[in-house]
Amino acid sequence: MLPQVLDGRTALQAEQALLRVAGVSRAFGGVHALDNVTLEVHEGELLGIIGPNGAGKSTLFKVVSGFLRPDRGQVWFAGRPVAHLPAYRRATTGIAFCFQDVRLFPTMTALENVMVGCHPRTQHGFVDAVLRLPRHHREERWTRERAQRLLTRVGLATHAQRPAGFLPFGVQRTLAIARALATGPRLLLLDEPAAGLTAAERARLADLLADIRRDGVTVVLIEHDVALVMVLADRVAVLENGRLIAVGPPEQVQADPRVIAAYLGDESLAEA
Ligand SMILES: Nc1ncnc2c1ncn2[C@@H]1O[C@H](COP(=O)(O)OP(=O)(O)OP(=O)(O)O)[C@@H](O)[C@H]1O
Ligand SMILES: [Mg+2]
Repeated sequence: MLPQVLDGRTALQAEQALLRVAGVSRAFGGVHALDNVTLEVHEGELLGIIGPNGAGKSTLFKVVSGFLRPDRGQVWFAGRPVAHLPAYRRATTGIAFCFQDVRLFPTMTALENVMVGCHPRTQHGFVDAVLRLPRHHREERWTRERAQRLLTRVGLATHAQRPAGFLPFGVQRTLAIARALATGPRLLLLDEPAAGLTAAERARLADLLADIRRDGVTVVLIEHDVALVMVLADRVAVLENGRLIAVGPPEQVQADPRVIAAYLGDESLAEA
């Protein structure tokens, strides 16, 4: 009977958190990229994830978004186990993600890239599109307008008709966020969105994240810019060698001896 009781308890906890990663491990050959990681993300919060290079941060996102299967453990989203669902099915459940390497369609315009993100929200199928049925036209117009509004919201309206591949790097990163928002997510996973941005772009990103949160979207932010994380996050989780070594409010995590030891010699924590 004991396993059932334990399962029941896990399910109950999963209901309380929007996202729950439970005992997740993932190895690549001899490298334990994730080692028994358990972590909850509450609805409406911004959780920051920090950790040295190779700590397993991106691997965690890939497991949550469905691009990698864990060797062990389970992922719960909105009270349901999702580890068996492929990435495209998770997007329709409300998980959106921006990868560390920005993956846009370079020859498509900025607007079209965001329109692609709108797709999980539309109803029409292949037949509607081929036969150019009225529903297809209506949804095409709706998608275009929605994408245009999102571009305006993230400050990229003037770039709408430019091919994504020609846009400056910082703009491409913001465009990737707009595309993720187009899916209408409950949970947004951002992997180092501030990397390579200028100071002005970073400030705009901070404003955008605050705006996204006001809309009630839960955000998990992987970031090497520890100062930015400490300012924006409600809680911070720290990974080191695939293990979660600390999680809590920023001031508590910053003072944690294990975190300080993990960052020893790394100026970024001292500067935060
Ligand atoms: N597809 C893969 N094949 C082999 N090893 C991998 C793969 N993906 C990740 N790893 C290894 O797993 C470990 C964790 O990698 P991961 O990319 O998750 O780290 P990270 O915390 O995101 O690092 P960074 O801050 O540099 O982005 C590293 O040792 C990495 O080399
Ligand atoms: Mg990474």
